[in-house]
Amino acid sequence: MSEQIAHLSIPGEKSRDLLARRQQVVARGLSATMNVFAAKADGAVIEDVDGNRFIDLAGGIGAMNIGHTRPEVTQAIAEQAAKFTHTCFTVMMYEPYIELAERLVKLTPGDFPKKAIFFNSGAEAVENAVKIARYATGRPAVIVFDNAYHGRTLMTMTMTAKVKPYKHRFGPYAPEVYRAPFPYPYRMNMTPEQASQACIQEIERMFVGEVAPDQVAAIIIEPVQGEGGFMVSPPGFLRDLQALCAKHGILFIADEIQTGFCRTGKMFAVEHDGVVPDLMIVAKSMGAGMPISGVIGRADIMDVPPPGTLGGTYSGNPVACAAALAVLDLYEKEDQAALSRRVGQAVLDKFTQLQQRFSFIGDVRGIGGMIAMELVKDPATKEPDAQKVGEILAAAHKRGLILIRAGMFDNVIRVLVPLCITDEQLQYALNALDEAVSSVAQPTPTAIA
Ligand SMILES: Cc1ncc(COP(=O)(O)O)c(C=O)c1O
Repeated sequence: MSEQIAHLSIPGEKSRDLLARRQQVVARGLSATMNVFAAKADGAVIEDVDGNRFIDLAGGIGAMNIGHTRPEVTQAIAEQAAKFTHTCFTVMMYEPYIELAERLVKLTPGDFPKKAIFFNSGAEAVENAVKIARYATGRPAVIVFDNAYHGRTLMTMTMTAKVKPYKHRFGPYAPEVYRAPFPYPYRMNMTPEQASQACIQEIERMFVGEVAPDQVAAIIIEPVQGEGGFMVSPPGFLRDLQALCAKHGILFIADEIQTGFCRTGKMFAVEHDGVVPDLMIVAKSMGAGMPISGVIGRADIMDVPPPGTLGGTYSGNPVACAAALAVLDLYEKEDQAALSRRVGQAVLDKFTQLQQRFSFIGDVRGIGGMIAMELVKDPATKEPDAQKVGEILAAAHKRGLILIRAGMFDNVIRVLVPLCITDEQLQYALNALDEAVSSVAQPTPTAIA
């Protein structure tokens, strides 16, 4: 394994050629963490066009929990593609859509009647959850959180917190979006319980000073914040939030796009707090890379918008539904949640050891297989160190790891590895991570001089 992967000279020649072509014709607004191009993938490994093999610690940003090219999934895709690829569900309906809805209304928390609707991207599903909540409640406002990420469309960009690169110069933004604090114990210098209480109190203040609760359609939250830097809702926070929602007739919507499908060690992250949302938004790992997202929730809410108000040409595409059904079959047969906890514990242990050795690792956090570390210039001031993250990522890439960052200050390294990673691959990845972090901790020759 290490002979195949370690110390790559990247980008290789074919990737360099493709990069030159990309620069001619692909818009700059689309960034790329690595300057290499994929050729094929299997499980937790991606091979690039020059034959370099990488362990995928990013999982296509949390979309590949089940792993790359699982034969059951690719076969389901091929079989459906051979039958038909598109009719548009709003023109002529098809069974895979119905079956996926049947499976998801059972799989998601809540033993009340539920309904589902499918879209393509995560952002599209978030947009539609907001539309459904507004229509059902007749209220205009939504409350979102600091550090939130919900997408890049106009509404979801407005709901997303981070200004650069997501929002800057893309305004004016959508109206009636209010932002509450999210518990971030590390930066709030509080215990998780204190941070949680402070945030709930602030929302109560917002109901007096910013928006009347009877104007709020929904509170929308990532149970574990993804792009924002893997901040985990402290125990009880989601329950308190839901109680607040219930008190004011506000819908509680969980954005489980990054956290769903066992990423956090349970099927859905809200289950850690025993919370049943009114609506849940899913995408990413449901389709193993096929573009499919969904909103699932209380039938009495989902059914309020009348026919024609929701949908889209490709929404709930039959090939994507077939992929999702194959993924769900695998989740039924295999204990992916246990795999997630196992992988996550190994990564957490490694990050914690590294934190003991290197003071620039300010915080290590996460839950299940969703683990991150936050880098700072000085543990006392907690000044973010985005540059060191860049150096570690480059060192990790050279050692054959696909590794990405997150965080409001770009100073968080996060792991979203496919849960099928083998013991040998995981061991290699953890050693390579150790080497990558250690390599940037060495004083550079110029620093010595
Ligand atoms: C929590 C969350 N919501 C929404 C989105 C947007 O999904 P998409 O990129 O598919 O539009 C993402 C993507 O990273 C996400 O992590």
